[in-house]
Amino acid sequence: MAVKLLILLQLCVIVSSIQDDRKVGRLTEVFAWKQLTYDIDGVALTQDRVTSFEQNALLRRKRQSDLVYFKNEYMDERIWSEKYSRMDSRVIPRWNLYRPKPSQPNVGTNVNQSDAFFIQYNNVPMGVERVGDRVFITVPRRRYGIPSTLNYVELNQRERSPALKPYPDIRQARSLTSVYRTRADQCGRLWMVDTGLLEIPANPQQVQPPAIVIFDLNTDTQILRYQFKDEDIPAANTPTGLASITIDMQSDCASAYAYIPDLTTFGLIVYSLKDNDSWRLSHSYFHFNPIAGNLNIAGQNFQWNDGIFSITIKQTGRECNTAYFHPLISFHEFAVSTCVLNNKTAIQASNYWSLYSVSMKILLAYR
Ligand SMILES: *[C@@H]1O[C@H](CO)[C@@H](O)[C@H](O)[C@H]1NC(C)=O
Ligand SMILES: *[C@@H]1O[C@H](CO)[C@@H](O)[C@H](O)[C@H]1NC(C)=O
Ligand SMILES: *[C@@H]1O[C@H](CO)[C@@H](O)[C@H](O)[C@H]1NC(C)=O
Repeated sequence: MAVKLLILLQLCVIVSSIQDDRKVGRLTEVFAWKQLTYDIDGVALTQDRVTSFEQNALLRRKRQSDLVYFKNEYMDERIWSEKYSRMDSRVIPRWNLYRPKPSQPNVGTNVNQSDAFFIQYNNVPMGVERVGDRVFITVPRRRYGIPSTLNYVELNQRERSPALKPYPDIRQARSLTSVYRTRADQCGRLWMVDTGLLEIPANPQQVQPPAIVIFDLNTDTQILRYQFKDEDIPAANTPTGLASITIDMQSDCASAYAYIPDLTTFGLIVYSLKDNDSWRLSHSYFHFNPIAGNLNIAGQNFQWNDGIFSITIKQTGRECNTAYFHPLISFHEFAVSTCVLNNKTAIQASNYWSLYSVSMKILLAYR
């Protein structure tokens, strides 16, 4: 199923890029990527950088004399590209740059895709957020060959298909394993969940514990990495579901709360910045509705079961705001007061379950 969704997403990206018209209805098209490219410290990544000598790589190597290969540190046959040799070695990605000797055509035959620095087709953007002149674009690591999971482009450059730049730079970007979506707050901070997981089908690897990460957008530095408690992450596959984050704040920047839906194991993690503490809530409204799970998208039939997917806050001007949320697979929108979410012990109250309400029901005609 994930493969099908991936294909659909890529089709969307391709379709949107082949329109010559830069107007879509009343909207002006700003970006349209056919396939993502990267700009890493001024070096353009515009096509695959892999180490395996597949047929197509061989063909490409014949066509192009200056091809740069990326390779793991443990390879002895390392030859640094002249382009990179003058760079500070600390900024070189873990998958070092490597140019095979033409005299050794078999070098690298024993390596697999996990060594690839860039496999263009695998780079699927999933989160996009504009803050001022920058647009942050996240590429979760659900396949091999993703050079940087958190990136940005500058809006004022007005390039149609701009290259992504690692945020804040390739060195700091290396501390992030995989990010689905970011959320900026009114205090110049960019929040996200680093799932810590290389979500490779059939070979997932928890590289580091899942954590909330905050960057200060004024200084472009990381100001927080809060590792979730064990109780927040009840199952090994929970990190795959930490795909979004929502911030609730009164006037005071220091007392922000973050809400992280867990769409895989159906919960809601709340983090208090002031208390530097987190807790996990459950409610049956966080689950998917099996009646809504049969999907047919562009001729593809499949069942899906994502639970609570995203949250939005309605400011009330009073102490308690309203949080609206919905499972992806559901016909309902639900509501709960942020005062319930922000109260560490509210879940112990006998009326906790009734503090949530159905705010909207989508009526669909069935065939
Ligand atoms: C690919 O290589 C990595 C190490 O680079 C290794 O952990 C993994 O098991 C290999 N996978 C296969 C299928 O050989
Ligand atoms: C927040 O709490 C974690 C333990 O859960 C701790 O490791 C970290 O240092 C704390 N951060 C701050 C800023 O107090
Ligand atoms: C938090 O919830 C508990 C349990 O319902 C309640 O006793 C307590 O007064 C609440 N705290 C606040 C600050 O609302």
